[in-house]
Amino acid sequence: MRLQDKVALVTGASSGIGKGIAERFAAEGAHVAVNYRPGGAKDMEAAQAEAASFGPTAIAVSADISKREDVERMVQEIVAKFGRLDIAINNAGIEIKKPFLEVTDDEWNKVIAVNLFGAYLVSQVAARQMVKQGGPGKLINISSVHEDIPFPEYTAYCASKGGVRMMMRNLAMELAPYKINVNNIAPGAIATPINQAVLDDPVASKNAISEIPWGRFGKPEEVASVAVFLASDESEYVTGSTYYVDGGLTQQVTLY
Ligand code: BGC
Repeated sequence: MRLQDKVALVTGASSGIGKGIAERFAAEGAHVAVNYRPGGAKDMEAAQAEAASFGPTAIAVSADISKREDVERMVQEIVAKFGRLDIAINNAGIEIKKPFLEVTDDEWNKVIAVNLFGAYLVSQVAARQMVKQGGPGKLINISSVHEDIPFPEYTAYCASKGGVRMMMRNLAMELAPYKINVNNIAPGAIATPINQAVLDDPVASKNAISEIPWGRFGKPEEVASVAVFLASDESEYVTGSTYYVDGGLTQQVTLY
């Protein structure tokens, strides 16, 4: 048990990578707050039942992470229940595929609101709590390989992830005196609902795989195992870096 009795918040944990991390953290002995979006696919009852299936102390917490009052209420709820917050995982994320020339302000703002503003809010509210506790703490952003490599027709997404990369590097410096480690995990193509359209299309899927040196999509569990390391005491001296979990995708440069 590598996270015994640590209190962890995972945002956007109703599916995909977030769900994988929440399940694994609970299996490692953490008390996990599993964040769901109000009005999302699962109602609160289903969310509580799902969280309970991850581990005996896991709870579902509802919050739109792009709203400060929601995030503050959520963190208060976690502290009221478990007494503290040790780990916050900024996982919630959305993407919209659209040629740049056609992107609307609403689409741009929506992506930035969840992926960047939401990550800022959760980091700030969580870090204030960690500082209040006297430290230490762990902030982990699930960014993307697109914090660094371009992805045509996903400009808002790439801008948000590039922003999360710089936020992480700044926070690693500002929060080091409080012994709060701040790192990113940059997943490549992981088999999750965000990629459902590609997974369901044999041609698109084959094309995607041809770009991945490892020859397959990744699994949420493979992101979760890096998250366990970054959330555990073993990563004490690790801060300000991005850990790629991408089967080599980032190294793939197609010249012709
Ligand atoms: C995106 C996926 C994409 C993957 C690799 C992820 O950040 O969410 O849509 O397949 O990066 O390009």
